[in-house]
Amino acid sequence: MKIGVAKEIKPDEYRVALTPAGARELGQGGHDVIVETGAGEGSAFADAAYEAAGAVIADVDDVWADAELLLKVKEPIESEYARLRDGLVLFTYLHIAADEPLTRALLESGITAVAYETVETDSGVLPLLAPMSEIAGRLAAQAGAYFLERPQGGRGLLLGGVPGVSPGRVVVIGGGMVGYNAAVIALGLGADVMILERSLDRMRHLEEILSGRLSLVMSSSLEIEESVQDADVVIGAVLIPGALAPKLITREMVAEMKEGSVLADVAIDQGGCAETSRPTTHSDPVYVVDGVTHYCVANMPGAVPITSTKALTNATLPYVEEIADYGLALAVAQDPALARGVNVVGGKVTYEAVAEAHGLDYHPLEDSLPLSPV
Ligand SMILES: NC(=O)c1ccc[n+]([C@@H]2O[C@H](COP(=O)([O-])OP(=O)(O)OC[C@H]3O[C@@H](n4cnc5c(N)ncnc54)[C@H](O)[C@@H]3O)[C@@H](O)[C@H]2O)c1
Repeated sequence: MKIGVAKEIKPDEYRVALTPAGARELGQGGHDVIVETGAGEGSAFADAAYEAAGAVIADVDDVWADAELLLKVKEPIESEYARLRDGLVLFTYLHIAADEPLTRALLESGITAVAYETVETDSGVLPLLAPMSEIAGRLAAQAGAYFLERPQGGRGLLLGGVPGVSPGRVVVIGGGMVGYNAAVIALGLGADVMILERSLDRMRHLEEILSGRLSLVMSSSLEIEESVQDADVVIGAVLIPGALAPKLITREMVAEMKEGSVLADVAIDQGGCAETSRPTTHSDPVYVVDGVTHYCVANMPGAVPITSTKALTNATLPYVEEIADYGLALAVAQDPALARGVNVVGGKVTYEAVAEAHGLDYHPLEDSLPLSPV
């Protein structure tokens, strides 16, 4: 298969969808890899490293035009919509439940779009979201600590405190991959940490691994209202797979938060879990509402591209190999986890939560692609 790797053009995005090591694996599998000029630069991979791994370097037009499978990191932005086409399989983060214009562009183009974030195993694990969630969670705790500093507009509080002075309080809403990693780093900094979670099974697991080091509380509107009032840092880390994030933190709750506290809404890529959240970028990461610093960067792992690119491609490469080796139809027939990643096929939405989010018709994947091995 001809596999294209596009350079990311979204502002402040430095990751790339394939490393030279991955290019070599695919080449050894008999595939042709075409990498856009400079695609790996932001992650410290030179064009020469891809060439040495057997890939061809090409300009943007050739990569999009020649590829049968196009690998990206972030969703196509408006200037890329014209490149979407029938016959191409796009494999990338899409998050289209929160992006109606992109959903329509994908549908109109006839492209087949497979979303990293909805690839899901039978046990509900999201293997391609997990590595980025680990990174975003860890960064969220760091951002919380940083924006509490007075010169950054914060309360002027050292999150970890010092002997004789109480630490800051971190409230994490959602104890999944982001929430767990945020909590671990906040604990490491010495903060007083609480996780609000909705799944009892998840709470039992967190209790086993973090026993005694933080408080674990069942999430409810009342608990959220009370705990965010006391918080120095609130980290929004909820997820309903493929759907918009629920607005758990209302405008009124934000108004009751402490002056100079920080709200890091990591769930912003799914629309955010606070009513006051709107996406920001690494070059302008925060804004203030009612005295609360909002940190809502939609592509947090983009800040640490060397770590992120390696963590992402470690997770995506086995799926890329499946699609390349078998073609998409057979690959999804063999792997239900990959099948759950398919969001759009030939002008139809094949992921139920995306159809619901935009009031579009839902077409089960088996109507478009065979789902049992042929
Ligand atoms: N901004 C970024 O750069 C970035 C990067 C990675 C992930 N994310 C986003 O972070 C969010 C969390 O991702 P994740 O990988 O941790 O997901 P996850 O599925 O591992 O965890 C989500 C958790 O939220 C819990 N939850 C759901 N509803 C809840 C509620 N009402 N109250 C409390 N908890 C609730 C679930 O039980 C689950 O444990 C997602 O929206 C994801 O897209 C953003």
